[in-house]
Amino acid sequence: MMKTENTVWHQQHISKTQRSQQKQQRPCLLWFTGLSGSGKSTIANAVDALLFARGCHTYLLDGDNVRHGLNGDLGFSDAARIENIRRISEVSKLFVDAGLIVSTAFISPFASDRTMARSKLQQGEFIEVFVDTPIEICEQRDPKGLYKKARNGEITDFTGIDSTYDVPKNAEIHLHTANLSVEQCAQQIIDYLVQHDFINANKQG
Ligand code: ADX
Repeated sequence: MMKTENTVWHQQHISKTQRSQQKQQRPCLLWFTGLSGSGKSTIANAVDALLFARGCHTYLLDGDNVRHGLNGDLGFSDAARIENIRRISEVSKLFVDAGLIVSTAFISPFASDRTMARSKLQQGEFIEVFVDTPIEICEQRDPKGLYKKARNGEITDFTGIDSTYDVPKNAEIHLHTANLSVEQCAQQIIDYLVQHDFINANKQG
């Protein structure tokens, strides 16, 4: 990693506070974590749509999509996953600085990386959302056929099979998806954002 001695931080004229005031929202990062097939992307998309309908300014970063572009050079070794999450946390930090309500949907299996991402943001801005779906259900759904391949040994380093997933211990939001619909999960997150003054209670949605 090269951070040269000759680059200095340049203070921008428009502050994060000004950007968030313009948008009438408090920026934050909804960090979805969970197994492959747990429903992270589906729930994150549902939340994003609800926020958008309320007139909020948002952006969604999704593992499968980001791995086609920015992180197209990364695989699934521990080191590659660590770098994946490092880049995402830096990009998310920039988007939060831009005043947006950002959602990220990455397995982010290692607790140390989630702590690292949290530490880049201000107190309260990082909202960990544990999409808690038992592996048996993820494997039953297997929307991309990847669990089957992992069981057959066609894919290695698959999370939950032969690669670790550290279960979150202190997530701000814990979604027990087995008992809830996508809409209920999304609403639980919207309620959290209203209760913590990130978004205005009076808006629609
Ligand atoms: S992370 O572990 O680095 O956070 P990320 O969320 O970006 O993972 O990507 C996970 C997605 O990549 C899964 O939903 C799945 O579609 C696909 N994938 C391909 N190979 C693997 C693997 N070995 N382990 C987990 N997911 C994989």
